[in-house]
Amino acid sequence: MLVRLADETDLAGFRREARALLARGVPPSEVHWSAGAGDEDLFAEASGPAATGSAGDGTIRVPADFLELCHVVVLHREPQRLALLYRLLWRLVHEPGLRHDPLDADMLLARQMAQAVRRDMHKMHAFARFRQVQDGEDANDPLHVAWFEPDHRIVEANAPWFRRRFANMRWAILTPERCVEWDRRELHFRGGASRGDAPPADAGEQLWLTYYRSIFNPARLKLQTMQKEMPRKYWHNLPEAQLIAPLAAQSRERSGRMIEQAPSAPLRRLPRPVRELPAIAAPEALPFLHEQVQRCRECPLAEHATQSVPGEGPLRPALMFVGEQPGDQEDLRGRPFVGPAGQLLERALAQLGVDRGSVYITNAVRHFKFELRGRRRIHKTPTQQEAAACSHWLEEEIALVQPRAIVALGATAARSLLGRTLAVMSERGEWFERPDGLRVLVTLHPSALLRMEPRQLPEAFDAFVRDLALACRPSSP
Ligand code: URA
Repeated sequence: MLVRLADETDLAGFRREARALLARGVPPSEVHWSAGAGDEDLFAEASGPAATGSAGDGTIRVPADFLELCHVVVLHREPQRLALLYRLLWRLVHEPGLRHDPLDADMLLARQMAQAVRRDMHKMHAFARFRQVQDGEDANDPLHVAWFEPDHRIVEANAPWFRRRFANMRWAILTPERCVEWDRRELHFRGGASRGDAPPADAGEQLWLTYYRSIFNPARLKLQTMQKEMPRKYWHNLPEAQLIAPLAAQSRERSGRMIEQAPSAPLRRLPRPVRELPAIAAPEALPFLHEQVQRCRECPLAEHATQSVPGEGPLRPALMFVGEQPGDQEDLRGRPFVGPAGQLLERALAQLGVDRGSVYITNAVRHFKFELRGRRRIHKTPTQQEAAACSHWLEEEIALVQPRAIVALGATAARSLLGRTLAVMSERGEWFERPDGLRVLVTLHPSALLRMEPRQLPEAFDAFVRDLALACRPSSP
């Protein structure tokens, strides 16, 4: 069955058609999706449910985050994205277990596609550079034009962000497939443009280059990280890219000069609040400790998080698992490892015959650190200072819980527990002993698995389970 949508990002059309297909029980393998006017026009008669006027109106309940996923995945350039979304929808309806399976290959693929689209949208925010064009009589009211080459079909979806951000100026963003213009009243969309339609460098750019030169800190230059954040493919549209090579070449000499200069005064550290654990047994002392953490303001993270997330599990367990920090769902629910990473951990433990309730689970950092992108809270790795500020809570928790051994999930936990940076990939599956005699097994954080290519996942998951087996075996540690 051929189903054709009005255009490549026609989510409303997709929803309508998918609902009708589902109502008629048409399995994903029998549907061919296409968009826009194309060769398929020849077969329009054979088109799908909307064309035959049989759109069903059955109500289909899917998790809210699946709908959000559809909004983003539909913008991906992958031709199979609509087939994937319909397959997922079909499976959500026919396989109730799917929504609880963190390893499902279709779901992982869709999440990765969504991530690629969001990254592309973010890069457009960061790297669209406007240049002024005098297109009218008023010299004080130029049009600002940017040229950008997105990987995905994100222009419409991204336009409201630019409208909010640059509400008071007139601007246009030109891309090869789609252009958008804001006249301070309305957004106007039209077809693609070519790079030559965008204006050349202007005087404002010189000012920007001077600013860029002055904020460039040679001592903090990390070329690899820089290229990761600002991939080379964007460089030809970024005026500051021309400065990178000369500034990088001078960085060694400039940072040498900085080192020779007299040190400036260190930042004042906030005094640690005076807390005394009452002389009571651990079962009462733990809730007391958690209450204290709830009030902690030793680093800025607490300000934005919903709450601090305490550890949970029995006292004197065979194992304590330490993660990095609560994620979005943990922050809302106030419990550690209850989101996708937690599901993966639970699944690995179940494979080893270990019940989650029999181990203690906690985090190196107590508050969720995130960055807001639209309405989404995107995880950000805590800095070493933030983790260090939190480490005394972890130590007090360890002292009260008294686990027989600990599993460090990922680099942040390993550093907090062992006081040094470990190369997790090469030191995973190894035991380390702390000065207090407690043994710590280091392995990956389960979120690292969730970020992998779906085809690498089964093997990576097995390796993760093998690491955990070292700690879960009755004879260990
Ligand atoms: N990741 C963590 O490190 N901890 C959690 O609690 C959840 C996700």
